[in-house]
Amino acid sequence: MSWWTKKKNEGKAPKASLTTVPQHVAIIMDGNGRWAQKKGMPRTYGHSVGVDRVRDAVEVCLETGVSYLTLYAFSTENWRRPQEEVNVLMRLFQEVMSRETPKLHKNQVRIKIIGLKDDLSPALVRQLEESERITAQNTRLTLNLALNYGGRSEIATAVKKIAQGVQSGTIDINAIDEEMISANIFTAGQAEPDLLIRPGGEWRISNFLVWQMAYTDFYFSELYWPEFGPKEMIKAFEWFAKRERRFGGINKGGQPG
Ligand code: IPE
Ligand code: IPE
Ligand code: MG
Repeated sequence: MSWWTKKKNEGKAPKASLTTVPQHVAIIMDGNGRWAQKKGMPRTYGHSVGVDRVRDAVEVCLETGVSYLTLYAFSTENWRRPQEEVNVLMRLFQEVMSRETPKLHKNQVRIKIIGLKDDLSPALVRQLEESERITAQNTRLTLNLALNYGGRSEIATAVKKIAQGVQSGTIDINAIDEEMISANIFTAGQAEPDLLIRPGGEWRISNFLVWQMAYTDFYFSELYWPEFGPKEMIKAFEWFAKRERRFGGINKGGQPG
């Protein structure tokens, strides 16, 4: 039974009383391989169980009213993995998108792919574009799927686009500012991430959203992604609700950070 047809509250996280809900949540879904190996299973088993946690994450975001969820599914560096693992992942992306798109659409989720589609197989690109097209008008939750995504390549692409504008005379060099760069990256028009969640026990960002996360709060967990269910998500949200975000200013009591 899939999550949206589940009976009310079955397997769900306890209703949290969140004072502040992050508007944009970004997740580095890490630790699938190690989790599977710990259980004596092939790494790819971890990736398929990881898909179940994606459903959980979407459900928590829908229930709590998050507007943007950005999931790191495959980095520009992940091509360095054995070909067999890359193949399994690519097949999994295609299967999952084809199976889940109608349900996501029913739940008013807009799917957006961020990353370089050029290096993906034509069949996968067709599926991704179909998922984007079907859900384009949905406004409840935007699900950004970072696929063949790299933060630095995203910035380099934006710089190139702007430079072309300067060269052709449509952009005045003095008009280049932070807003212009933000308007030329994949997440143009979206709120920046408030909360980054990284399970898997690594304390790094691995080239994820390097421009967008200038003021994001980071939540790290030693649990592997296949273990990171709805309760853990809510725990992260509760942790976030306690942050005082100063954006370089001072807190309400007049004390510097
Ligand atoms: C994250 O899990 C999923 C992808 C990168 C596709 P990993 O595959 O990195 O799992 P670990 O970190 O090796 O355990
Ligand atoms: C980050 O995980 C990328 C994804 C989760 C898709 P990695 O496993 O690739 O990161 P590193 O290599 O540990 O930094
Ligand atoms: Mg990893």
